[in-house]
Amino acid sequence: MKILVLGGYGYFGSNLLAVLRHNPAHDLYIGARRQRDDRTVVVDWQSPEETLTRLLAYDVVVNAAPWPSDEHLFQCLSLFMERGRTWIETTADPLQTAKLLDWKSSVSPGPGAVMIGVGVFPGLTNVLVNSFSSTTGTLNLAIRYRLFSGAGPGMCLLMAETLTRPSIRLENGARKEGPPVAPSAIFPWSDGKHTAMQVYLADAEYLFRSTGIQQAATYLSVRPDAINWLGFTANLLPASNLVRRLLAAYFRFLRGVVFGKKRTPIEFCVSDGETNQAFVASDAFYAGSLLLEVCLEKVKNGLTPGFRAVDEVVTLEEVLEAGGRYGIAFQVKTYPR
Ligand SMILES: NC(=O)c1ccc[n+]([C@@H]2O[C@H](COP(=O)([O-])OP(=O)(O)OC[C@H]3O[C@@H](n4cnc5c(N)ncnc54)[C@H](OP(=O)(O)O)[C@@H]3O)[C@@H](O)[C@H]2O)c1
Repeated sequence: MKILVLGGYGYFGSNLLAVLRHNPAHDLYIGARRQRDDRTVVVDWQSPEETLTRLLAYDVVVNAAPWPSDEHLFQCLSLFMERGRTWIETTADPLQTAKLLDWKSSVSPGPGAVMIGVGVFPGLTNVLVNSFSSTTGTLNLAIRYRLFSGAGPGMCLLMAETLTRPSIRLENGARKEGPPVAPSAIFPWSDGKHTAMQVYLADAEYLFRSTGIQQAATYLSVRPDAINWLGFTANLLPASNLVRRLLAAYFRFLRGVVFGKKRTPIEFCVSDGETNQAFVASDAFYAGSLLLEVCLEKVKNGLTPGFRAVDEVVTLEEVLEAGGRYGIAFQVKTYPR
């Protein structure tokens, strides 16, 4: 299977490739803006027609690069659907995710497939949410990771945007906005209670649209705990582009330079206020990459054509089984409040 990973020299893309390279059946290529080696495919959205023709030469394109314009992206997805190719999207941006889910209702089905939400969060989180049945009609999803660990510029920019965008939640089925990173919450993690910031994550879009739940919110918590309290001060910052750029530059320095080589241990927790289910992995990006490998197995075995979110295609059991095969230790824990 000819697979092109757009942004494959970037942080997330190189993690994806590190896992995909274990599978000799994959014929792998890397999309970038300039030629680097004989596996590079130059992608230049200034010449959209040429780029679209180039992308259609692959059975599967995995996108771990920034989007071109919305117009070019959706033109590309429609062509992939029409021509029987597969597009796997990893974006973690909530606004882009909302656009993808809106596009889902307008697209004409064809022999191809578009799969969205493949990664860590969104990605593994959605698979975990899908395996959880709430008894109280409430669903909260929280993500906790070590801030002093590596991340790419794309994710650092998203972190800055997350802290300065209003948080979104569902209240009696209605979508409500709150100030950024508010209110503070104490969340029941598998190792005890810690603070969490209510934020707008891409995962919220899947949670709100696919579960039919009435009360829902997404939270972020970083280790060490003290940083969460600092995060709350983002409420005081003006949500300007300058603030966003400064925050992104700070995260890039911290996570790209100082802690660039450090793994990112992560825990996701789904809670309905009574029962909690947690997924723990020692390396977030490796775990998210494994989810991509599971998706590619589905494509190889004949994925049903159409547009789908990853949690419609992959189950938690399949992720755990793949973790066992690849020697990656995940833990899933269920525990009461
Ligand atoms: N779902 C998840 O859990 C998850 C996790 C992490 C990241 N992501 C997504 O992955 C993407 C990348 O994040 P990252 O932190 O890995 O960023 P990154 O390190 O900056 O990597 C992005 C790569 O995209 C390429 N690129 C940049 N601008 C481009 C353009 N105009 N045209 C074509 N290629 C371009 C760059 O490659 P060249 O310089 O070689 O051209 C760069 O290596 C983001 O969209 C993020 O939302 C998702």
